[in-house]
Amino acid sequence: MNNIYLIGMMGCGKSFIGKEIAQKTNRKSIDVDEEIVKHEGISIREIFEDYGEEHFRKIESAILKKISIENDGVIVSCGGGVILIKKNISIMKKYGKIVYIKRDIERILSDVDISTRPLLQDGTYTLETIFEQRKRTYEKSADVMIENNDAVQNTVHDIISIFDL
Ligand code: S3P
Repeated sequence: MNNIYLIGMMGCGKSFIGKEIAQKTNRKSIDVDEEIVKHEGISIREIFEDYGEEHFRKIESAILKKISIENDGVIVSCGGGVILIKKNISIMKKYGKIVYIKRDIERILSDVDISTRPLLQDGTYTLETIFEQRKRTYEKSADVMIENNDAVQNTVHDIISIFDL
């Protein structure tokens, strides 16, 4: 019931921040994408290419549920699209608190290799259009929103102090 779920756009720093919080507070950090890769034995990109996004979302929901049921007091870094499925939001709310990590799109574009992100491969979507589609859902589903535009350690510190971890 006391997990912390980090949500936000790809490249906003969720995985790094999750690991830092866990290390500083003696907790476990779990990265949903990493768990999917371990479980399926192929990369996220291969899952998208070979089976499509819908299939990926089903696996993502199942893994999120499994992580939530089996853990307590852990930091869970979610893939950027986790909020697209309503029941994922219910699961996160049931098993903990949701933190939206908000980073300016310009910053994400300048420091992340977006060519490796499956959703941006075919040119249908850009990071900006995906953000426009999702931003309200990020805001609505989060218990807390934290900006990650300055020193990342400040973001880490803010989350630790808000939840008294
Ligand atoms: C996705 C984000 C990725 C990964 C998948 C889909 C998305 O995770 O789950 O490529 O829909 O935004 P990160 O947010 O960790 O890059």
